[in-house]
Amino acid sequence: MPDVNIALGTMGFGTKVDAAASWDLLDRFADAGGTMLDTADCYAFWSDPNGRGGQSEEVVGRWLARRPGRRERMYLSTKVGAEPVGPGEWPANRQGLSAPAIKAAAEGSLRRLGTDRIDLYWAHMEDRTVSLEESAGAFGALVAEGTVGRLGCSNHPVWRVERARGIARANGWAGYTALQLRHSYLQPRPGVPVPGQDHRFGWVTEEVADYVDSDPEMSLWVYTALLNGFYSRPDRPLPDAYDHPGTSRRLAALDQVAGELGVSRNQVVLAWLIGGRPAATPVVGVSTPDQLDEALAGARLSLPDEHRRLLDETV
Ligand SMILES: NC(=O)c1ccc[n+]([C@@H]2O[C@H](COP(=O)([O-])OP(=O)(O)OC[C@H]3O[C@@H](n4cnc5c(N)ncnc54)[C@H](OP(=O)(O)O)[C@@H]3O)[C@@H](O)[C@H]2O)c1
Repeated sequence: MPDVNIALGTMGFGTKVDAAASWDLLDRFADAGGTMLDTADCYAFWSDPNGRGGQSEEVVGRWLARRPGRRERMYLSTKVGAEPVGPGEWPANRQGLSAPAIKAAAEGSLRRLGTDRIDLYWAHMEDRTVSLEESAGAFGALVAEGTVGRLGCSNHPVWRVERARGIARANGWAGYTALQLRHSYLQPRPGVPVPGQDHRFGWVTEEVADYVDSDPEMSLWVYTALLNGFYSRPDRPLPDAYDHPGTSRRLAALDQVAGELGVSRNQVVLAWLIGGRPAATPVVGVSTPDQLDEALAGARLSLPDEHRRLLDETV
């Protein structure tokens, strides 16, 4: 496990966060020992006047190019499947997971990142218009040729992940060994839509937790772990789906633990995720140095057993 077990989420880099500020954040993260970066070829098409992504990968790529030796120290993760490629509305116009789409997207990501290898390549979202065999074969081919180190799967139901892995195994191809899903300490009411969360199967459920926990090969990365700043900011209200008694109980437990340890809620949430069962790597989005420092402090915090027990047992 890396010393700093968070990945820096770069979704807003090059759009919401300008290039200079993004590079400062990347420098600060790397100087603090951070190694894992998360991006996607579609980041951030919704902030682009032409409705196309690639800005985040470009900013990361130009940062990597600025100092020799930096690429070798970083673990690069990017995604394919969600970039808009045609006319019409997203998500219908997304590139999807056909073999030609995966091949072309990987070439584009490598070019923008200025590298010859993606360490961890994610299927960003499902594409049920193509067979799992086709997607699994295309991903496996990237690993076989050395372009990709490892494969992950985001926002897919467990049964599809397991079926795709079975297909890969039967054909001697590399298969998915990482999941990226949304997770935090507070939980929404099951089945209630959360605005901004487009992915029906994008949540860490009991079934996902059991799946990851039972398979030593499988890693879990979790996004929106800080609920876009909710834990520390009154200007970031919780969506209605979190309006239930468990939220008040968990916030009280969080405040008790944070108070007793003299740390912030955000730090406790990250430490709880990192050291939990299953252990997770939070993908944290930040736009200021203070936010990054708080995330790094959370990654370094180890929760005493009695505090973890209190957090776990409060539902
Ligand atoms: N696989 C997927 O489908 C998927 C989906 C979403 C995200 N992701 C990945 O996960 C990363 C993070 O996701 P996210 O941006 O949705 O969630 P997040 O990390 O919960 O939220 C990030 C935002 O929260 C605020 N924030 C962060 N730390 C803070 C702190 N210490 N104090 C106060 N406010 C703080 C900042 O808002 P301001 O910048 O407005 O200040 C920051 O931009 C993305 O960059 C991306 O790499 C993946």
